[in-house]
Amino acid sequence: MLSSAIHSSEDARRLARRRLPWMVFDYIDGSAGAEVGAARNRAALDALTLRPRILKDVSERSLACSVFGRSTQRPFGIAPMGMCNLSAPGADLMLARLAARYEVPLGVSTVASTPMEDLIVEAEGHAWFQLYFSGDGSGTFKLVERAKSAGYETLVLTVDVPEVGRRPRELRHGFRMPFKMGPKQVLDFAFHPRWSLSTLLRGKPEMANFLMDGYDFDRRESRAKATWEILARLRDQWAGTLVVKGVLDAEDALSLKSAGVDAIQVSSHGGRQLDSAPAPIAVLPEIRNAVGPEYPLFYDSGLRSGEDVLKALANGADFAFFGRILQFAIAAEGEEGLEQLWSVLSDEMSIAMAQMGVSSLDEVRLET
Ligand SMILES: Cc1cc2nc3c(=O)[nH]c(=O)nc-3n(C[C@H](O)[C@H](O)[C@H](O)COP(=O)(O)O)c2cc1C
Repeated sequence: MLSSAIHSSEDARRLARRRLPWMVFDYIDGSAGAEVGAARNRAALDALTLRPRILKDVSERSLACSVFGRSTQRPFGIAPMGMCNLSAPGADLMLARLAARYEVPLGVSTVASTPMEDLIVEAEGHAWFQLYFSGDGSGTFKLVERAKSAGYETLVLTVDVPEVGRRPRELRHGFRMPFKMGPKQVLDFAFHPRWSLSTLLRGKPEMANFLMDGYDFDRRESRAKATWEILARLRDQWAGTLVVKGVLDAEDALSLKSAGVDAIQVSSHGGRQLDSAPAPIAVLPEIRNAVGPEYPLFYDSGLRSGEDVLKALANGADFAFFGRILQFAIAAEGEEGLEQLWSVLSDEMSIAMAQMGVSSLDEVRLET
């Protein structure tokens, strides 16, 4: 894209803030509580350094990697996010096409705004289904069966939402799923006509995986009944690869490994759950030490650049995921903006590798 204004993830965020209704921007950007947890993680990431090394031939560099035996063109993928079509019509499908182009995993949220069947097709198979255990679990296990029938091979169980965190910024705007229109929203939308015309005229975004008979999802329904027994049941029922996302404790990580979970995703849900949680980037090395060098460990939360991904890899992660900044790029400049941000992130990473004197990601991991 010749005329893109996106040269960093912060550019995408700034532009998205102008375009999106306040309610939608704050839903995507906001974190839990006083947002101290998100800031703590950012401060911890900023405090990490990458050491420059000199006079090595780094003219040929590769960002290629593999996850669960599949090659990926980048060591980062797309974190599962609910209701992405709020950032722009068709956002879910744009993310799916990005996953297909770079052969990286697309996290398909339980509360995605496009049906899981369509997303795995658009992603050409590069899609993982993210599961929330909800209520008494009857609907949850139906979703698992549905994911299997749709061809999903990897299931990501998110465990850090026993209750949805209080996020004052979205609460102030009256943000709710399913999406409701009141006087506050009408005013907000009137101030953002470009978004309103394109999004609302196409029909308001829905939680598309629940438009099926016999299952009505309520975002406010408690997810607090998920236990280790439920995990064991899920492990029995799901023959594919099972990832558990939202882990910040080394003892929990070891128990998950013993329970037959195939990979762990260290994450604070992007700071959207427990405001007082430790910075996930700070606990990553501990968790790596606990699970050993060979066990697949993923990381998300607070990543804003290619250099941040290198920090996650150097601190014990095998693979990383970006969340909200991808939605900001879409809100800012549509699918081209998404591609632009992706290439910015890739460039940032490749250039930093050259400066570190490394040509491959294995050398970065050795820095641990
Ligand atoms: C708007 C939004 C919606 C999200 N929805 C989900 C979800 O449905 N399921 C889930 O496991 N994580 C969800 N997450 C968390 C992301 O998967 C990921 O953990 C987080 O965004 C990473 O942090 P980052 O946004 O700072 O990169 C959501 C995050 C955002 C910003």
